[in-house]
Amino acid sequence: MTPAPVKLESKLPNVGTTIFAVMSTMAAEHNAINLSQGYPDFPISSQLIDLVEHYMSNGHNQYAPMAGEPVLLRQIANKLNDCLGYNFDAKTEITVVAGATEGLFATITALVQKGDEVIIFDPAYDSYAPAVQLSGGTSVHLELKLPNFTIDWEQLEAAVSSRTKLIIINNPNNPAGSILTAEDLQRLSDLVVRHDLLLISDEVYEHMVYHPQGHQSILKFPELRARGVAIFSFGKTFHATGWKVGYCVAPENLTRELQKIHQFLTYSVNTPVQMALADYLKEPVHYQSLSTFFQKKRDLFLRLMKHSRFEPLPCNGTYFQLMKYHAISELADTEMAIWMTKEHGVASIPTSVFYNKGTDQKILRFCFAKSSETLTQAAEKLCKI
Ligand SMILES: Cc1ncc(COP(=O)(O)O)c(C=O)c1O
Repeated sequence: MTPAPVKLESKLPNVGTTIFAVMSTMAAEHNAINLSQGYPDFPISSQLIDLVEHYMSNGHNQYAPMAGEPVLLRQIANKLNDCLGYNFDAKTEITVVAGATEGLFATITALVQKGDEVIIFDPAYDSYAPAVQLSGGTSVHLELKLPNFTIDWEQLEAAVSSRTKLIIINNPNNPAGSILTAEDLQRLSDLVVRHDLLLISDEVYEHMVYHPQGHQSILKFPELRARGVAIFSFGKTFHATGWKVGYCVAPENLTRELQKIHQFLTYSVNTPVQMALADYLKEPVHYQSLSTFFQKKRDLFLRLMKHSRFEPLPCNGTYFQLMKYHAISELADTEMAIWMTKEHGVASIPTSVFYNKGTDQKILRFCFAKSSETLTQAAEKLCKI
């Protein structure tokens, strides 16, 4: 007789399988074009692959130092200097992590204590709130204002309480495709100083910005730099989401705390990949060319969709394009995404899943980090709906 399943109280009772896995599985089952999950369908750089092979074949296969391979830490500091004009200390202010997801979890776990409140702007990436909850904190969700997904500053000011410890921002924002301007960050800086708050800035789409201001990192702002952790992803930047390598940049005191968690979560990150990335970063063109590369993809997708009944929202960053479908259907966004996958062969993500309250604005998210052929085939199908 099979033993009865052990009794278990879930620590995250409200968390199920993410919509990203659900939609990708459905896309495969129905042979649909998958514009749902956020990853490229084109190959990564063969130079980067050769570099990983080189370091694997030459004995770089044991544990890397906990904070990261020194050569990579130095190259990240060079890159930060190149992008931001500021010198970070490679030894005390940078941590290589197993993807931004680990960086986010380590940082939230390090900073949030029982009873703390954490402000999250919806639509939000789905890993923030569960991490806050697991640390005994409460997430306070504020909705960004359409059409440009801007912060409602009065609402933010009103939401700060004596328990607020931390604000999490995502710039550029997934799924909104919106960005924060220099004025926004200055305003945020005044607010976090006035209320003595910490800040996490998820900047994994830093190299996909199509706005004339370019990417505005919190690391450009002295007060935000002093009380913030900025989190980046090589997976996103170099089209290799499966590699799960990223990094956190923070002042020494915050870095020390997040490294205490990182060392027990993963200890360190894949050595040959770190060595390869260190070499690859020596050529800044590899990241400097990305915004132009992705802007062309966004523009192609928009051009192909021009005669569809979908209505695009502004996209100033990320590789996601939001589309309203009110001219086509009144279905709830999740139903619409499922219907389109099954009946029309294109998978997307309903944006309500990015809202704590499940706010349905009849908007779908399409990932345009795809080959021109994929985008053309998808648009052909979408234009028939
Ligand atoms: C906003 C945001 N943050 C973090 C991540 C995770 O990054 P990584 O794959 O480096 O863990 C993603 C991935 O989709 C994302 O969209």
